[in-house]
Amino acid sequence: MKERFGNDSAFIFFPRCDAKLAPRNIVSDSSQCLISAQHVSRSYDDGQVQALRDVSVEIVRGEYVAVTGPSGSGKSTLLNVIGGLDRPDQGQVYFAGQLMEQPQQLDQLRRSEIGYVFQSFYLLPTLTAWENVQLPMLESSLAARDRQQKAKQLLMSVGMGHRLNHLPTKLSVGERQRVAIARSMANDPQVILADEPTGNLDSKTGQEILDLFDSLHAAGKTLVVITHSHEVAARAQRMIEVRDGQIVSDPTPLQA
Ligand SMILES: Nc1ncnc2c1ncn2[C@@H]1O[C@H](COP(=O)(O)OP(=O)(O)OP(=O)(O)O)[C@@H](O)[C@H]1O
Ligand SMILES: [Mg+2]
Repeated sequence: MKERFGNDSAFIFFPRCDAKLAPRNIVSDSSQCLISAQHVSRSYDDGQVQALRDVSVEIVRGEYVAVTGPSGSGKSTLLNVIGGLDRPDQGQVYFAGQLMEQPQQLDQLRRSEIGYVFQSFYLLPTLTAWENVQLPMLESSLAARDRQQKAKQLLMSVGMGHRLNHLPTKLSVGERQRVAIARSMANDPQVILADEPTGNLDSKTGQEILDLFDSLHAAGKTLVVITHSHEVAARAQRMIEVRDGQIVSDPTPLQA
């Protein structure tokens, strides 16, 4: 699908799915884009730093994608832009067929369709594990009792059912990341975007988190995971390499 023109060139991009056609409930259908970024650029400092340069990429529903590349190459910027946490200066991003542009729509997507996991967990330190996981559900229509029940189930599903009332400071780093993953699942998102989720974990704990991602993927979630580790990237079905704000390698699009 893609050709390379020398080591420093970005790949020529050929669309492989229809950005405007992405009905729900279709898992791993290679014609169905969940996320489609088209000719996206993002700069900082009045254009002095070009973090993303004319990047096009498509994520098909049900895919497990790793994003690799050197520090400063634009990985987090790409994840933030496709996840609606940041806006591109140029280009468009579609999520499930919808152009992501209106602030209200972005809020809605961030709340209910996209789950985020970060290297530093970003748990609220004054809330227990159980409360942290309930937080994203506060604006949903769930009654308090249902919210509590769901948070408990999510924590049990990541092996944290025995630590419901612990504050983050009383948890190990691996346990904190489990809580963060449970929180990312609170509103049953279609996709989980993870920025170096094992970056702060020792190798054994990192493996446990990757096992958790495998089970989320097996359950039909779409996953996009930034990593510096080849071991982590090897768990994904597709590996995108970013350098100098461009995608330089994206060899194996998923065939459903
Ligand atoms: N808020 C910002 N203001 C100015 N420059 C920024 C900002 N965020 C990122 N950059 C710059 O944009 C470029 C891409 O940054 P980005 O964080 O996307 O890289 P990265 O690939 O995620 O790096 P790392 O692996 O170190 O996390 C870098 O040169 C970085 O310094
Ligand atoms: Mg980063």
